[in-house]
Amino acid sequence: MTDSLPIHGNYRGYYTKRPSFHDPRLALIPSNIFKDARILDIGCNEGWVTCEIAQQLQAKEVIGVDIDDGLIRAAWKRRRTVWSQRPRISSPSQPSPSDSGDEQKPKRSKRPRSSQGEEKTKNRTERGEQLYSFPAAFEHMFGPLPIPPAELPGERSQFPHNVVFRATDWLKEGTIDDWEGYDVVLALSISKWIHLNNGDEGLLSFFQRIFSVLRSDGIFILEPQGWETYHKAKRMDPGLKKIGDSLRLRPADFERELLKVGFRSVEHLGQTGKGGLHAHLLKALVYELYSSNRLPACFGSLPEMIVPLMKLKAVGG
Ligand SMILES: C[S@@+](CC[C@H](N)C(=O)[O-])C[C@H]1O[C@@H](n2cnc3c(N)ncnc32)[C@H](O)[C@@H]1O
Repeated sequence: MTDSLPIHGNYRGYYTKRPSFHDPRLALIPSNIFKDARILDIGCNEGWVTCEIAQQLQAKEVIGVDIDDGLIRAAWKRRRTVWSQRPRISSPSQPSPSDSGDEQKPKRSKRPRSSQGEEKTKNRTERGEQLYSFPAAFEHMFGPLPIPPAELPGERSQFPHNVVFRATDWLKEGTIDDWEGYDVVLALSISKWIHLNNGDEGLLSFFQRIFSVLRSDGIFILEPQGWETYHKAKRMDPGLKKIGDSLRLRPADFERELLKVGFRSVEHLGQTGKGGLHAHLLKALVYELYSSNRLPACFGSLPEMIVPLMKLKAVGG
C-alpha cells in the first residue's frame, strides 16, 4: 500500500499521538481474558497494543493483522524495540555485566553487545537484584537487539515469540491463522473504516466473520468509533463519502446487530479518554458452539450459513 490518503485509518505514527506505554483502553478489559489465550488483533496498525498484550498480559499467542503492509513492517520493528527495551533482572548471585570487569576496560565496537547497552541503565530492586534495560538512544544509534530463536519449552508462548503480524484485508481474506480459532478477537478503532469502505453489508459480514473464528465461549472486544467522527473521514475521499452517505446502520445499532449475528450477550466495558482519543468498549460473548463452527473463515460465506444453526441450537437447548 502506498503513502496515499489513509482511507482505511492506516495512519503512520498513530501511536505517537496516543499514550505510548500503557494503552488506557486495555485497563477497561478484564486482564484475565488474555491469560493463556489465542488472540486476534484486527487492524493492529504499528503493533503497539498488540505487543503490549503479548508482553504484559500473559497471552499465549497474539496475531496482529493489518491491511497496510507498511504498517505491518513497522509492527515487526516495534516487536524488536519492545524486546530490546524490556527490563531484565539479574539475581545478586549472578555477576552482572558491570561486575564482570568489562566496565573498567570498555571495548569499542560499532554495534553494542547487549551487555554494554544494559550497563547504561541499571537500578537495584529491593531484593538486591539489578534491573537492566537497553536505552532508547542506543536503538537509534545501533538498531534494536536481535531476537534469539525460541529454544526452551514454553518460550514459544512468551514474548516476543508469542506474537506475529500479517498483512491482509481481514474482512475479505482473513488469515491462515484463523484456522485454529481464537479465544479473543479485538477490533479497536477500526469499525468506522470497515463501515465507510464496505457499507452496512460489509460491516455485518465483518461481525459474522469474527463470530465464525471465535472458539466456544470466545470473546469479541469492539471499540466502535462514534458516528460524529464519520463526517471528517468522509471528507477525505469521494468513495468514502458516497458509501458513508448511504449508511443506514449507526454505531448505536451495533449491539443489536451483534446479538443478531449470534453473540450471546453484549456488555459495556466503559469509556476512557477525551476528544479524538475517546474510547468506548463493548465485550460480546459467543454461544457454546458446535465444533463445526471452528471451520476456517476462508470458506467465505460459511458464517452466514452457520449463524442460523447457532440460533437453532440456542433455542432448542
Ligand atoms: C485507526 S487504526 C486503529 C489501530 C489499533 N487497532 C488501535 O486502536 O490502536 C485502524 C487500523 O485498521 C486497519 N484496517 C482497516 N481496514 C482493515 C481491514 N479490512 N483489514 C485489516 N486491517 C484494516 C488500518 O490499516 C489501521 O491501521
